[in-house]
Amino acid sequence: MIPLVYDQINSWGKDDEFFLELLKKINAKKIADLGCGTGRLTTHFAKAGYHITAIDPNEEAIEYARSKEVSGEVTWTVGDSTNLETNAYEAVIMTANVAQVFLTEESWHKVISDAHRALKSGGHFIFDTRNPLAKAWEQWKKDLTPDFATDQVSGEPLEIWTDYEGFIEDVFTFYETVKNARTNEILVHEKMQLKFRSQEVIHESLQQVGFSQIQAYGDWKFKQATAETKSFIFHSVK
Ligand SMILES: C[S@@+](CC[C@H](N)C(=O)[O-])C[C@H]1O[C@@H](n2cnc3c(N)ncnc32)[C@H](O)[C@@H]1O
Repeated sequence: MIPLVYDQINSWGKDDEFFLELLKKINAKKIADLGCGTGRLTTHFAKAGYHITAIDPNEEAIEYARSKEVSGEVTWTVGDSTNLETNAYEAVIMTANVAQVFLTEESWHKVISDAHRALKSGGHFIFDTRNPLAKAWEQWKKDLTPDFATDQVSGEPLEIWTDYEGFIEDVFTFYETVKNARTNEILVHEKMQLKFRSQEVIHESLQQVGFSQIQAYGDWKFKQATAETKSFIFHSVK
């Protein structure tokens, strides 16, 4: 994630509406937004009245999030799942495929165990992740055009280019480069990696750490997941 351009190239979508609606349905009040990034969605949660602990290891992203005007209650924290309080939240949420940044089985086990520890009894764990069978990367690779943004400080035009390296086992590697479109100066060049886990593997791992009522939605309208759906939105209960 590149905080300089993240909000501009990730505009509001159906997934964001879905997460707001789901939180409303479960009637949560105190929530943790793990991997909140720039707070793109967190600020909307705050506006909806939730008390939020928003955590991300990316210092620049949290700094950017802190600079936003937020109507509501958010505690921004630079950190990871270790920073979640114990027995404290009615929901822990990870949006925009945060679940895929945990590349190893150890790191995945740690984050879901911490989410379980952090929830009150009856609390909800909610996250989305891409279905490996839908092969999203095949579409990504066809798009040879850059994204465009503006440097919010200097007003300079920016281009964001993506280069795809490919898979080693279930980890997909790609690079994002942000350059000044006027001078061609490269401002950021970042390696990104995503782990693609199957529905079954995720389901079993959630069961293993003690979650129950595990369900996977397959779209942003609460339809149950099938083998073909692009994303799984997992919703389970402590
Ligand atoms: C695609 S962004 C999603 C940001 C935000 N949730 C949203 O909806 O816009 C993925 C985020 O995961 C964060 N991340 C990376 N490693 C993490 C970790 N170990 N624990 C929590 N978040 C992590 C990144 O810093 C990044 O902000």
